[in-house]
Amino acid sequence: MAFKTLDDMDLSGKVVLTRVDVNVPVEDGRVTDTTRIDRVVPTIRDLRDAGAKVVLLAHFGRPKGQVVPEMSLRQVVPALSEVFGTEVGFVDGGYGEAVSKMSEGDVLLFENLRFNPGEEKNDEGFAKRLASVGDVYCNDAFSAAHRAHASTEALARLLPAFAGRSMQAELEALEAALGSPKPPVAALVGGAKVSTKIELLSNLVTRVQHLIIGGGMANTFLAAQGADVKRSLCEHDLLDTAREIAAKAGAEGCTILLPRDVVVAEAFEANAPNRVVKVEDVPDGHMILDAGPDSVAHIRTVLDGCATLVWNGPLGAFEIAPFDAGTVDAARHAAELTRAGKLVSVAGGGDTVSALNRAGVADDFTYISTAGGAFLEWLEGKTLPGVAALEG
Ligand code: 3PG
Repeated sequence: MAFKTLDDMDLSGKVVLTRVDVNVPVEDGRVTDTTRIDRVVPTIRDLRDAGAKVVLLAHFGRPKGQVVPEMSLRQVVPALSEVFGTEVGFVDGGYGEAVSKMSEGDVLLFENLRFNPGEEKNDEGFAKRLASVGDVYCNDAFSAAHRAHASTEALARLLPAFAGRSMQAELEALEAALGSPKPPVAALVGGAKVSTKIELLSNLVTRVQHLIIGGGMANTFLAAQGADVKRSLCEHDLLDTAREIAAKAGAEGCTILLPRDVVVAEAFEANAPNRVVKVEDVPDGHMILDAGPDSVAHIRTVLDGCATLVWNGPLGAFEIAPFDAGTVDAARHAAELTRAGKLVSVAGGGDTVSALNRAGVADDFTYISTAGGAFLEWLEGKTLPGVAALEG
């Protein structure tokens, strides 16, 4: 990957248009999770230390080119100021004038760029207007890099461009996980539906030695092999797709691991009476809600023999106890191997991050991506426009 970083730039006195992703959860006008804001702290600190004037460009929600007051970025300003440890200014118009009043080290946030229809259209004219108030462009928003928008794509081609610290860390971690990973590589893919991850699974079987499938999507693969999964979540219209993916894996020398035993219950609710059965013995009226202990032991053994792990999606209905046990157990084992220096572990996707937090191991993974869609598209092997523009 050939992109410039903060270390390649002379930023003293320069206006740095810095694309960040502060599309964070907000309740009653208050930010409830600052993870994404925390991630850009190193970039803001280093830009300010270098004497830059930092202009933050960002989106919030999907206002579709309209001004939607509830989606104003004004509401994240207090959280930004607190996390960055400096007063962050805010403007919703008169950008050129506001920037002209900035001093070195100042941080100024522009209003939600998606209020302007030019943003999502990747409009050259809108990008030029943004470019006219800055000297250089920094992208620190990997989680928005799958969007070809004016602030992620067109703008990067109009000014000298470089990656911020979090973008750089993300790209380096992803490169280590799938670009040029140390083999053997395992991918653990869970979640409810095969239909949302067909491209991802098809790409992964060509890139990894072991594909561990969990969650609801494993049921579709089990059914494709002839198992009767009874009331379990299962996409019966995708059995052929599951068979095609399995055949492709076979041709590529990738082994697919499916559950051997499962935890079943009659109700999808916390603490529903449950038991462990073999996959071929799911009782009538029951649904599969987690991988069983034998399945997890199998996953642990496979991970013991791997040097790299990419994880996306939980193994079971992790949001309701005790059906989080399989995910928690596998996550703890991956964390243990990582701590011992035996495994490079990279995880991403909204549910995955919550699952690893629940297992209390998020800090022990080599890298956790906060990106949702961008992480998935990267796993699908797609070129991310925001990354390509930095390299171009
Ligand atoms: C996200 O929350 O994943 C990013 O901020 C991108 O948001 P979007 O899906 O609305 O483009």
